[in-house]
Amino acid sequence: MRIRQHVNPLKSDFFGIPLAALALPAGAPVEVELGSAEAWFLMDRASEVPAGHYVGVEIRRELAWAANEESARRGLANVQCVFANMTVDLPRLFAPGSVTRFHLNFPDPWFKSRQHKRRVMSPSLVRDLQTLLAPGGEVHVATDIFELALDAMAELESPLANLAGPWTFLRQSPFQARSRRERQCHDEGTRIWRMAYRCAE
Ligand SMILES: C[S@@+](CC[C@H](N)C(=O)[O-])C[C@H]1O[C@@H](n2cnc3c(N)ncnc32)[C@H](O)[C@@H]1O
Repeated sequence: MRIRQHVNPLKSDFFGIPLAALALPAGAPVEVELGSAEAWFLMDRASEVPAGHYVGVEIRRELAWAANEESARRGLANVQCVFANMTVDLPRLFAPGSVTRFHLNFPDPWFKSRQHKRRVMSPSLVRDLQTLLAPGGEVHVATDIFELALDAMAELESPLANLAGPWTFLRQSPFQARSRRERQCHDEGTRIWRMAYRCAE
């Protein structure tokens, strides 16, 4: 199966993906990884906290399918990935107040200035996250690109409470789970910028 390296999230094909609201188990904490790729992070989380439910939102359809095949192979019924565009689709997937924690792990950097508009962190994404988070829900971001870390901090700092203190990065991940990119950074000795935010109870 051919899986593309990158797709442009602003392409019209990705603004009308047929989707239905997800049926989430009542009573289980729901964690969502935005741009989940192979969903290794979510599969690790499912091993760490088996009582949770884990959803990956991924714009590369074949990758979402492959992740679902792998989680089925591992017997992880509580990990599911959906082919969707986080820029526009989150309110169609999740009910307001239904998500315990969002993870944005290593968003695509789109280095060229003419491509910056493809970056996913934006005021409208933050508005969606605020609406969909349960009271006291959290947003965790990790990136190895300092400019993206600063952009994310600038968007999240004022509507949400920074768990490390105002304008402060987390020293280490609060999770054992590691995404594929995070493992790569670890192997290469690349610095990772992390932040965690909480919304009001
Ligand atoms: C650099 S990869 C990181 C993947 C994974 N989170 C990790 O840490 O290994 C960024 C992922 O976000 C996905 N992505 C980019 N824009 C997206 C969007 N608008 N909606 C959903 N997924 C998106 C990409 O296809 C890619 O799989």
